[in-house]
Amino acid sequence: MSEQLIIAIDGPAASGKGTLARRLAAHYRLRHLDTGLSYRAVAAEMIARGLPFDDEAGALECARTIDLGDLDRETLSRHEIGEAASRVAIMPEVRRAVVELQQAFAEKPPGAVLDGRDIGTVVCPDAAVKLYVSAAPEERARRRTEEILSRGEAADFQAVLEDLKRRDERDLNRTESPLRVADDAHILDTTDIGIDAAFQAAREIIDTIVDRS
Ligand code: C5P
Repeated sequence: MSEQLIIAIDGPAASGKGTLARRLAAHYRLRHLDTGLSYRAVAAEMIARGLPFDDEAGALECARTIDLGDLDRETLSRHEIGEAASRVAIMPEVRRAVVELQQAFAEKPPGAVLDGRDIGTVVCPDAAVKLYVSAAPEERARRRTEEILSRGEAADFQAVLEDLKRRDERDLNRTESPLRVADDAHILDTTDIGIDAAFQAAREIIDTIVDRS
């Protein structure tokens, strides 16, 4: 196995990619970066400064203040921050600034697991392993609704489903780094399987690739 292992995981919101990424990082003893949190941090900083979400210059300034080593998952996980993040994430200059930070994170030995929307295509196009995690929108909405309720926040399945579809639409159709399956990605559909089965399947894919190299 080479010294540096980068595992790139992409997929839509609530597909299970975050949980999978954390488990793989623990298993292979790699650092983990949830890249969605970087866009969420930019959005949160805009909210804190009272900036409108179409202020590109303001968003870029906010992007320059973020520190990937100091992202508060708890606060940034809030539902309305996710919605705002997907609006900020369409801005090319914001993406460039954030991607540079993510690439610097990925390059440090012994490597890392990064999850997001453009990891295998833009952030780490040379990653040894690329996974694309997907699941049906209704199943993703069911999981996201449960997750929100478990935090003690209010959630309505239909509203969450509509919201996910809106975010998918934005992520898939933006000009800059849209969500798409990298040519050399392995697809994992988690609609009908739990996290344990997804983890097993991912490990088999990764071990085969690592053994070959
Ligand atoms: O994954 P998460 O829901 O935390 O991401 C928040 C938003 O950030 C997404 O809806 C997406 O628009 C954006 N994002 C992105 N590229 C990434 C990760 C997230 O555009 N690599």
